Amino acid sequence: MIKIGICGFGTVGQSLVKHLSDHKDLIANKTSLEFEIAYIADRSIHKKTYPKNINVTTDVMELASPGKVDILVELIGDVELTYPLIKNAIENKIHIITANKALLADKGTELFELAKENDVFFGFEASVAGAIPIIRNLKTCMTNERLTSIHGIINGTCNYILDRMSDSSLDFSNALEEAKELGYAEADPSFDINGMDAAHKISILSSIAYGIRLPLDNIYVDGIEGISLMDIKYAKELGYKIKHVGITGLSDNSIECRVHPVLVPVKDILAQVSGVMNSVILKGDRFGTSMLYGHGAGGSATASAVVSDFVDAINFISKKDLSICNHQNYNTLENLDIKDINDIECPFYLRIFAEDVSGVMAEITNILANQNISIEAVTQHESDRNNTTIPIVMITNSVKGDLINNAIKLMKNLRHVKEEVHFIRVLKSDE
Ligand code: HSE
Repeated sequence: MIKIGICGFGTVGQSLVKHLSDHKDLIANKTSLEFEIAYIADRSIHKKTYPKNINVTTDVMELASPGKVDILVELIGDVELTYPLIKNAIENKIHIITANKALLADKGTELFELAKENDVFFGFEASVAGAIPIIRNLKTCMTNERLTSIHGIINGTCNYILDRMSDSSLDFSNALEEAKELGYAEADPSFDINGMDAAHKISILSSIAYGIRLPLDNIYVDGIEGISLMDIKYAKELGYKIKHVGITGLSDNSIECRVHPVLVPVKDILAQVSGVMNSVILKGDRFGTSMLYGHGAGGSATASAVVSDFVDAINFISKKDLSICNHQNYNTLENLDIKDINDIECPFYLRIFAEDVSGVMAEITNILANQNISIEAVTQHESDRNNTTIPIVMITNSVKGDLINNAIKLMKNLRHVKEEVHFIRVLKSDE
């Protein structure tokens, strides 16, 4: 009998218990060993109803001690507590399943190696893009060729907020409140909106796809706090939607890994990904393009990914199915650097506030021309505020971030340009 211990009994933990009970027969058909939930460890034991016949403890570390459980499912989510918990458990030969992307992005390299040394299963399908089986695909079907890029919408909360702002002109804070109420946002929602949650996820994908150590410290991270209703409206006029994306890929002799908002053409498939849905687009040098789409957040979707790991863990223990190469292998690409964001070329959206005087547009376009930046589209609006400045919005050709930074510095020195010049990257057509 395989004994399972669940650490954390919030939305996902509760959905997991329900899933394991509702689909016990279905799961039993796929595994050769019987299982039971032996323990639930929950630090806030009050006000919750726990299933009968399961031991409940507030001491999470108890589950990492030898002999208590065979598989530890970690659904707590912070790093300080879960790092020693998982490390101890692995050293005690307990198999691990976790949804904790922050922990993996920070300590994944060490924990993956420790799991391999101790020959324990380490499943983390639920850590990236909820129910979408992206980790499993990267570890199995996509190992035989070179992945040129992975990009997509990997934070449901950001996608939900941007959509509500775009479709209902809801302001940022009301849209965030809705996402929190619906259970999409992290316990600390600043991780969603400042891009860190997506950064954790793209770091994990980059490490699996390219066999590199977790690159979190070297990647460019920008969130959606700076996106205003005004930008959403102007982008729409130019034929774009604003989305928050994670991108990793091979580029010259380096690896791109970044998260930030982008303008996506309205006809692009990513522009159709709405609400809390996630989508990951993979490109390979043989299979071409493949897209995975699904629920990126929420209790039952995340629990479903945990259960898929659970089946693999039991089969790993019973040696029934070793087709999944569970342990992370680092490979020759690991010496490649993460490319500096300002060396990456893409088109840019620029929003400039300038006084409505003759010649100002010429001054701006001169600066761009001197930096070898050309303008692909431009619109100028009446001032929609009680002041004399007017917004000028443009899309440039594909250029390095360095050139845009130089141009913005020069524009800020122009007498008639007021306020910060705001930029957002535009998704490259070959991304
Ligand atoms: N807060 C995350 C999101 C949940 O919104 O995508 C899943 O990681």
